[in-house]
Amino acid sequence: MIFLCRTEDLARTGAKGIVLGEGSDRLDVVVVRAKDGALHGYINSCPHQFLPLEIFPDHFFSEDKKHLICSGHGALFEPGTGLCTEGPCENDYLDRLEIAVTEGAIYLNDARTPGVVAREKRSKRNW
Ligand code: FES
Repeated sequence: MIFLCRTEDLARTGAKGIVLGEGSDRLDVVVVRAKDGALHGYINSCPHQFLPLEIFPDHFFSEDKKHLICSGHGALFEPGTGLCTEGPCENDYLDRLEIAVTEGAIYLNDARTPGVVAREKRSKRNW
């Protein structure tokens, strides 16, 4: 498992962006706390044009705090499912990453290396 952040790192904005690796191995991750308190991990890449979602570090939520919002073209995503409910990629999903939480620490729980996850994601781009 690879350490991502601590649960208290989400206290300010409800979300935390983490970058693992660099170059072609770079994997952008976002960990979010949904309204029910559950934590979820996603690849921080909008299904529309593969941009990272946030404008400012760790600011992923819409003003009403109900959705994650993409800084590119305003797509809205459910924090608990990653489903886009409004915007140019409506009905697409953010790519879920399995996470594990132990004693306040949040880990990426994936047998693949972050670099492999990142390259697999990029290989699926169709533009
Ligand atoms: S890149 Fe996210 S809505 Fe366009």
